[in-house]
Amino acid sequence: MTIKKSLSCLVLAVILIRLSNLGSANAAKALYAFGDSFVDTGNSGSGAYPYGKTWPGYPAGRASDGRVQVDYFAELFGVPSPTASLLLKNNSESLSGVNFAKGGAGVTYAYGMTPLDRQVNELESLVEKNVLSKSHLRKSVALVSLGVNDYSAYNAYQSSKKSEYASEVESTVTTIVDGIALNLVRLYGFGFRNVVIANLANMVCSPHITVAANFSSCSSNSTLEYESSTHNELLQQRVRLLNHELQGANFIIVDQSKAFEHLFYNGAQYGFENPLVPCCTWYNDSAGQTQYTLCQHPEKAVIFDGIHPTQAAWKVVINLYASVRGYTQEGPNLNAWIQRNKV
Ligand SMILES: *[C@@H]1O[C@H](CO)[C@@H](O)[C@H](O)[C@H]1NC(C)=O
Ligand SMILES: *[C@@H]1O[C@H](CO)[C@@H](O)[C@H](O)[C@H]1NC(C)=O
Ligand SMILES: *[C@@H]1O[C@H](CO)[C@@H](O)[C@H](O)[C@H]1NC(C)=O
Ligand SMILES: *[C@@H]1O[C@H](CO)[C@@H](O)[C@H](O)[C@H]1NC(C)=O
Repeated sequence: MTIKKSLSCLVLAVILIRLSNLGSANAAKALYAFGDSFVDTGNSGSGAYPYGKTWPGYPAGRASDGRVQVDYFAELFGVPSPTASLLLKNNSESLSGVNFAKGGAGVTYAYGMTPLDRQVNELESLVEKNVLSKSHLRKSVALVSLGVNDYSAYNAYQSSKKSEYASEVESTVTTIVDGIALNLVRLYGFGFRNVVIANLANMVCSPHITVAANFSSCSSNSTLEYESSTHNELLQQRVRLLNHELQGANFIIVDQSKAFEHLFYNGAQYGFENPLVPCCTWYNDSAGQTQYTLCQHPEKAVIFDGIHPTQAAWKVVINLYASVRGYTQEGPNLNAWIQRNKV
């Protein structure tokens, strides 16, 4: 067969596969989410105003002015945003998805909030009670997004000791990433095949770090950069290995690091103004009362408070994952991944 002929056969095969998959999009049963405040939708209480200002208009358990990533992932997969585990009314409600994420959580004990393995234990107990079956989870999607709290807790602890710790950093990264990988294997064991894993946004552009430079530029802190890049490299290696070793696994990394870097440096093309400057800041007035200042247009800010993205930023980030090449690893963009895996 000539190259030209085999190429046209390939094109035909691709077209046929695409046609056979038409209509199978949005076939996921439910979304199950694990992570920290970038994912939490109510396991840390409802929060206080101005959280929730843009949507739904009152605090709704989200560390944002509105929706967070899990809400947009759910929309993309055509399923309801998963109910915070704390707010589940009964077992059968968990069939429509559960959000186990908890603000402050990490893989390690970090700040003492329900770490990843215990979030997965909560799912396991629903499996053991026969509420969630393997076949249900096989047709569902899991989202795993955390890690930053592990590093910030670790950094705070190390700087309090003021010791030289470069060699410890590497083993800390391995502990954290392997903790994620181990729980991915557990999720596979419960039935999940479709799993989305967020990598670590580079901490050097986060307002709690850039405040030192009046939010004028990302920091050039080599410790933070080393942690983010080493974490992300190792995570990619582990996910690649799991996809290879676990039959039928469709684990995909969404490149949160690249997506937010894109917004911080090219935010203007999406209508963001001063992308490094947070929308909301808190201060104590002369009477010792905590006050806040709020930007006029949260939809033009990337970060809402010192750490957490705005609804507008999450919306753009999920769109990058979904439809732009290069914002995922170990798989195609999410729209193609959904088609391919009949998610
Ligand atoms: C579970 O709770 C949901 C939401 O309140 C309700 O609609 C549903 O009927 C309940 N199911 C059972 C089996 O109690
Ligand atoms: C940040 O702004 C404050 C007040 O405008 C100024 O005093 C300080 O020098 C600035 N710091 C840097 C690092 O630019
Ligand atoms: C880099 O960041 C870490 C963690 O926040 C901090 O402990 C350290 O002092 C910073 N280093 C420099 C040179 O600013
Ligand atoms: C305000 O004061 C409280 C109590 O002293 C303190 O814990 C908090 O960190 C202060 N907040 C700010 C934004 O300075």
